[in-house]
Amino acid sequence: MTRFPPGFAWGTATASYQIEGAVQEGGRGASIWDTFCARPGAILNGDTGRIACDHYHRFRDDVALLGELGARVYRFSLAWPRLMPSGRGAINEAGLDFYKRLLDELEGKSIEPWVTLYHWDLPQALEDRGGWPARDTALRFADYATAVHERLRDRVRHWTTLNEPFNSAFTGYASGEHAPGATDPRAAVAAGHHLLLAHGLAIARMREQDAGSQLGITLNFSPYHPASEADADAARRMDARQNRFFLEPVLLGRYGEDNMAELNLGRWIADGDLEVISSPLDFLGVNYYRRLVVRAGSPQGTPTRFIGCEDVELVDRGGPKSTMGWPIDPDGLYELLMRLHREFAPPPLYITENGVSCEDTLDDQDRIDFLAAHLRAAHRALAAGVDLRGYFVWSLLDNFEWALGYEKRFGLVRVDYETLERTPRASARWFRDVVARNGPEP
Ligand code: FCB
Repeated sequence: MTRFPPGFAWGTATASYQIEGAVQEGGRGASIWDTFCARPGAILNGDTGRIACDHYHRFRDDVALLGELGARVYRFSLAWPRLMPSGRGAINEAGLDFYKRLLDELEGKSIEPWVTLYHWDLPQALEDRGGWPARDTALRFADYATAVHERLRDRVRHWTTLNEPFNSAFTGYASGEHAPGATDPRAAVAAGHHLLLAHGLAIARMREQDAGSQLGITLNFSPYHPASEADADAARRMDARQNRFFLEPVLLGRYGEDNMAELNLGRWIADGDLEVISSPLDFLGVNYYRRLVVRAGSPQGTPTRFIGCEDVELVDRGGPKSTMGWPIDPDGLYELLMRLHREFAPPPLYITENGVSCEDTLDDQDRIDFLAAHLRAAHRALAAGVDLRGYFVWSLLDNFEWALGYEKRFGLVRVDYETLERTPRASARWFRDVVARNGPEP
């Protein structure tokens, strides 16, 4: 039997822009995702987050669904533009009240809130002042985080600064697939550094405000493998950009020499930045979806937009894939956890996202198989000594999958976007049993 340690934190995850809707209610300001969704061609089928899952109005139903799962933790994010409509200044009480009502509901079901302060919905007003490539945005984030933490710290123990700063920086400002849709690789590097600085500043100030809070960050990792020996350097460069760009400063207090040289990072770093960025953490959130194989040469398809990786492309090794086209590869999760453990001496790890997009059926045996295989991989890592404390499925609900709109379905619970009706899938019942048994069937 695959049994996890007593007290293992089982949960599900969502994010504000992907589920809330109500983009103009309660005094919410515009976010970069509202703006990006209005750009013709930016989002598949012209979808937007205007209504999304209407969670803003249906959060009680959603918490009831969480209650049925029996999971102990609910990871969700706070919308900065709901709490500070222009990104700075006083807290918008109506926005805060929404999250307080959500917290009341969670408390009523003894579900622990796991709050992410930033899951990609930057207030548009801050983007207008330069966005993440501007250093000032890091200071604004620290103010926002501190203000919200001050108001909710008596009710929320676990605080995550950022979700996947890699995507905020590189998918937002280099490849342009995400908001704000910029295609400026140098700006993306600056954004990456300023996101890290934002994280570190917020951690230091929240720690000072309440030594009892549990503080961390969520990073997304993909192990990179070379297609052949000749591609080893391509894999090294991709690993440097996606994985080490964030891991090394946060956990080791320095950027890798390769990133320093190849990205000319020195021009963005001020004295003391790395000490701030490496403020001690109580946990590291790990998002894992896939392992990737790369080759160097002249790209046949779309070249990557990372500086120094313009010659690199992904190689399709065949094998099963999700409806996102992502390879299904649970061993990659084992490899990742072991590497974090061996090379980075991290704080306790939580898998803050893992999940799969499947066809839109209620009988989603393929999702059950995916999750079970990844849990077995995680369990192997635990048995090998990795300090893994929790696992949160992405996602509770089908939701707005960014540039891919509503077509991709990641939910344990199906959402009918015509009626907004929620219907638990077979995987929801399966996950309830996993939680009750503290592990999947062997
Ligand atoms: C992650 C995001 C999350 C969701 C999943 C599928 O990169 O954090 O919001 O879109 O991918």
